Amino acid sequence: MIRDIVSRYDLDRVSIATLASHSSLQIFHGAKMEGFKTVAIVTSDRLWFYEHFKHLIDSFIVLNSWRDLCRNDVVEKLVSLNSVIVPHGSYVEYVGLDCAENIAVPIFGLRKLFRVEADQWAKMGLLQRAGIPIPRVYRFGEEIDRPVIVKLPGAKGGRGYFIAKNSREVEEGLRKRVEQGLIKTFEEAMIQEYLVGVTAYYHYFYSPILNRVEILGADIRYETNVDGLRRVPPDVVAEMGIEPTFVVVGNLPLVLRESLLPKILEYGIRFVEETKKSLPPGAIGPFCLESIIDDNMNIKVFEFSGRIVAGTNIYVNGSPYSYLYWSEPMSTGRRIAREIRLAIEKNRIEEVLT
Ligand SMILES: Nc1ncnc2c1ncn2[C@@H]1O[C@H](COP(=O)(O)OP(=O)(O)O)[C@@H](O)[C@H]1O
Ligand SMILES: [Mg+2]
Repeated sequence: MIRDIVSRYDLDRVSIATLASHSSLQIFHGAKMEGFKTVAIVTSDRLWFYEHFKHLIDSFIVLNSWRDLCRNDVVEKLVSLNSVIVPHGSYVEYVGLDCAENIAVPIFGLRKLFRVEADQWAKMGLLQRAGIPIPRVYRFGEEIDRPVIVKLPGAKGGRGYFIAKNSREVEEGLRKRVEQGLIKTFEEAMIQEYLVGVTAYYHYFYSPILNRVEILGADIRYETNVDGLRRVPPDVVAEMGIEPTFVVVGNLPLVLRESLLPKILEYGIRFVEETKKSLPPGAIGPFCLESIIDDNMNIKVFEFSGRIVAGTNIYVNGSPYSYLYWSEPMSTGRRIAREIRLAIEKNRIEEVLT
């Protein structure tokens, strides 16, 4: 079906469309650098803000609610503009899984991956099958034999997550979250071994056209209050009974020891290979592995994102890694547009769209 739509597209007039949020300004900027038209799908309350970036946006599609994205008239408008949707970290959360994976507009990337990402166990299973080290995971009810982090479903920027030292604390914490309406059942939560080390998030790009995995950058997610707690002496933390929380406020740039790069690239390649096996045609474009590195330089990956992550916004002008491949400023947003351009030039557009 998507193939039929693409076959009717005027490939000299492709527009890059995305929801105006998350990393959209980077995506629009990159699309412009590569000579594409851009479409901002925006909710009416945010329109004024994105109009300040009119120089990056050719058309606005204004919605009252993100959930209107799959309305017939919106889809028709997108198709009439020869649009390719670039899904980012907020896409599924905003429009809902059903619309996200079924929309009758070509998507840059692997739409089958959305459903895997929405299920925390399927997500960790994919990493495990890829042979990427992951923390131990527990289901509710299993004996908890070490400190764990308890995560709630959906991309909510860490909201509601907590640390627990035993089964009793897990249950207490979950009961509170049910009362707060954050979850309905205890089983929705994913429980993971709490890893100690430093957090590191790697931005990759898999190019079907060049048949290679590129490392485009790395970042550290800066989270309150867990990252602020080191400013408070441990005895004061204990005295005040402060609980660590994991609400993201921004991202910091990170350049890694070069000796870590082979392992990081290997894990990126394994991820792509596994998606080719279990979700053909496999990953396309940007993805991210989120990890903790311990003092033996062991890397454990506690989650992945199959789309562009907000940490790439640090590198709108390129990163120390993307420059090594391209010798020109190459953000992830621009890299997406470059891949689409290369695919069009080589008559291979269907290989990067699903
Ligand atoms: N297994 C783990 N051990 C230690 N910290 C973790 C672990 N998993 C997640 N975290 C912390 O919690 C944050 C949010 O977790 P994550 O699974 O990335 O959820 P989301 O990205 O959906 O908010 C991470 O950025 C990290 O700081
Ligand atoms: Mg995450």
